[in-house]
Amino acid sequence: MPVQIAPSILASDFANLQSEVEMLNRSEADYIHVDIMDGVFVPNISFGLPVTEAIHRHARKPLDVHLMIVNPDLYLEAFRAVGAEIITVHYEACTHLHRTIDAIKKLGAKAGVALNPHTSVDLLGDVLTDLDLVCLMSVNPGFGGQKFIENTYAKVTKLKKLIEAKNSKAIIEIDGGVNLQNAPLLVEAGAGILVAGSFVFNSPDPLATVSALKKM
Ligand code: DX5
Ligand code: ZN
Repeated sequence: MPVQIAPSILASDFANLQSEVEMLNRSEADYIHVDIMDGVFVPNISFGLPVTEAIHRHARKPLDVHLMIVNPDLYLEAFRAVGAEIITVHYEACTHLHRTIDAIKKLGAKAGVALNPHTSVDLLGDVLTDLDLVCLMSVNPGFGGQKFIENTYAKVTKLKKLIEAKNSKAIIEIDGGVNLQNAPLLVEAGAGILVAGSFVFNSPDPLATVSALKKM
């Protein structure tokens, strides 16, 4: 299976959201990654439900919604209602993670769990078979355009082994600082989805950049 690409709309021009989404529709992207930040779980506020709904209205790619918020259980249904295909919550934000994963799946969405750079992949051992996706944060969540953390490679390798050992179908997604230098190494280590924000939107030709990432 070729690597899947999920450009992060966080790095787009919010004043021209419709044309940015239409550009992604024309691209080889597999998902549109939607970063929700609440200013509490992470030190930044991005946007919320109405903007996600507006993105969904124009999107012809499934929405991969990354909830960087406290109490995500309160908003699962609402994000599903505005078009989330994948709903990813943070391990660090969930006291009853198994219940939260169950709730996401009951809504008919794919369930993902994101791990901050300091959180060990071993902590997911007991829920791995319930998951569709594990998102490894390769930066500290909260901002686009940060530097890729090199320890991520080792985490991907370790997580890949754990997924195989548990016979889980979970796909490994990498989020933060992805570019054409680290992408091939990430794919080789076992990544199945690459999120890329600034590398796509700040490039002179975002369509060509998505294509180049897709060829990894
Ligand atoms: C970071 C977000 C990322 C971000 C990635 O908190 O979760 O999805 O948009 O942006 P880049 O690719 O610029 O690091
Ligand atoms: Zn993200």
